[in-house]
Amino acid sequence: MEQIFEPYAEFAKDARIKNMDEYHALMNKANDDYEGFWGDYANEKIDWFSPYKQVLDESNAPFYKWFVGGTMNVAHQCVDRHLATRKNKAAIIFEGDNGDQQVITYRELSYEVNKTANLLKNQFNVKKGDRVVLYMPMIPEAAVAMLACARIGAIHSIVFGGFSAEALRDRIIDAEANLVITADGAYRKGKPYMLKPVVDKALEEGCECVKKVCIVERNGEDISWVAGRDYSYNELIKNESSKCEPEPMDSEDPLFLLYTSGSTGKPKGVQHSSAGYILWAQMTMEWVFDVRENDTYWCTADIGWITGHTYIVYGPLAMGATTVMFEGVPTFPDAGRCWSMVEEYQINQFYTAPTAIRLLHKMGENEPAKYDLSSLRVLGTVGEPIDPPAWKWYYEAIGNSKCAIVDTYWQTETGGHMISPLPGATPIKPGCATFPLPGIMAEIIDEDGTPTPIGEKGFMCITKPWPSMIRTIWNDPDRFVKSYFGDCKKDGEPVYFTGDGAMMSDDGYITITGRTDDVINVSGHRMGTAEVEAAIKKHPGVASVAVVGKPHEIKGEGIFAYVVLKGEDTMAEEMEMVQEINKIVLTEIGAIAKCDDIKFVPDLPKTRSGKIMRRILRSIAKGEPITQDTSTLEDPSIVQKIQTCII
Ligand code: PRX
Repeated sequence: MEQIFEPYAEFAKDARIKNMDEYHALMNKANDDYEGFWGDYANEKIDWFSPYKQVLDESNAPFYKWFVGGTMNVAHQCVDRHLATRKNKAAIIFEGDNGDQQVITYRELSYEVNKTANLLKNQFNVKKGDRVVLYMPMIPEAAVAMLACARIGAIHSIVFGGFSAEALRDRIIDAEANLVITADGAYRKGKPYMLKPVVDKALEEGCECVKKVCIVERNGEDISWVAGRDYSYNELIKNESSKCEPEPMDSEDPLFLLYTSGSTGKPKGVQHSSAGYILWAQMTMEWVFDVRENDTYWCTADIGWITGHTYIVYGPLAMGATTVMFEGVPTFPDAGRCWSMVEEYQINQFYTAPTAIRLLHKMGENEPAKYDLSSLRVLGTVGEPIDPPAWKWYYEAIGNSKCAIVDTYWQTETGGHMISPLPGATPIKPGCATFPLPGIMAEIIDEDGTPTPIGEKGFMCITKPWPSMIRTIWNDPDRFVKSYFGDCKKDGEPVYFTGDGAMMSDDGYITITGRTDDVINVSGHRMGTAEVEAAIKKHPGVASVAVVGKPHEIKGEGIFAYVVLKGEDTMAEEMEMVQEINKIVLTEIGAIAKCDDIKFVPDLPKTRSGKIMRRILRSIAKGEPITQDTSTLEDPSIVQKIQTCII
């Protein structure tokens, strides 16, 4: 019998959504009057400069528009509007890798954001609509830079600091950014690491659009300076005034781009809007984490991913919360680091990825017992399904069997949570994202919109537009339509398909079953197999390659590459090739794409029309018996040959 964990009664009685009746009432309201539902929240939550005229414009679907005609500013929403009541409240609590601490109040945040906004305008000539690439460590200046862009209407595009120079270059070029903000580097596991040299390398070729580079000093290591291009943030900021009027932004003006992997080799620049995005970021913070005025909230993600955007910076600040930002890694100086920080800052909500929970469980099963974790009320997970042993340890050892675990299902494209338990209302089943959030019309259907029978896998779709949804793919509207609105229809109209499969139980619980495309999930991050394949193909000795995911104890999925070489190679040469291939992957993408297995095979299993049968390769990688029909293969004997090669 499946175990169900009821919300902790003590918590539920003060929660924003207190029980399932309240949840259903909200859902019914959204069903009965969808635009009224969203319009009311937009009025209540957003500090509009001028009111919107229409809640939702569907006339040019799927290019939906929300809160049409309204003007506001996300930096004003996240900072200015709190100054009347929360001036001296901590906005950001920063802890460095070495344990250095900094508390930034809303007043101080306002001061820094205004100065930085002026710096962008006056020194770097950044204008509304310009793209600014941020290649930053996890330091408060990163959040300040995001908000400064928002304040003047520039569109930021953050590139995760673990991406390589090549990956950074591709993203700079695609976004046609004219400014890059970076840091000399930062600290990791007690040692300095560098970012600026990666920017230098990225800018060597093809980035003529970038006129200036702004460098924040963090670790003080030696870096090279290009005269006329590189400027010190710390020097220039001294001269700027702390008053910069926020630019009135249209609801639909883009707030940021964030590149993510798709099923082709080229990353997609997911474009988010201003009003719709910030509304849902704020509402989900309030509903899903149920953060209270005096709480301290910590999300361990990196600002280079969507989780860092929505749930370290924008969501918490929009609601006026105190958000913790951590530069280091959870295992340094030991696997008790997170728990010591929970004790130190009296964290009330802790949000992390299952991969981190598995790692911390493995490396420090008994660490939590050494700390006082009694401040915790809500625990969150994101990025991949959480497996039962990790769930149990998180629930018992971290949450003392009193905290709800909110398994939040969402994506870069959805902007915020889509399916998640509500901590005071939802009876939780471990490993299950449970129910769509109020206002989110998530349905499991087939291509034609027929609901998938209970207990069977179907397509996880969102059948009505929602405010924080992706608006387009930067510079590629056709790809936007094809990628998300090409596969499923409901009542004859294309609907948003997430790319995930899902299943519903007879009591309506939704379990995400994983991607249905060639995208794998490494440590909770999306990685397109085509992107890794494109990198590996750059090795001159490689004739062809296919990459698949393989279950991995800590990372969830690891990267498994089948490589066909051009010539005959000896064993020793193959060992060298493994190193060379991984070096290329590191240069082209970054350490997150490092292959766990590289196996050399005589050929790939192709159909007569030349299509690689990846399902077979996935089964072989897992060591499963091959049950698929192999008769359509050009050479059915290849299956056995590959199996022999990978032993
Ligand atoms: O496959 C789903 C998985 O992560 C994908 C989104 O990846 P990304 O855009 O990088 O964003 C990650 C952080 C939001 C989804 O398509 N995923 C995300 N959350 C869950 C999940 N799979 C299962 N359970 C989740 N809670």
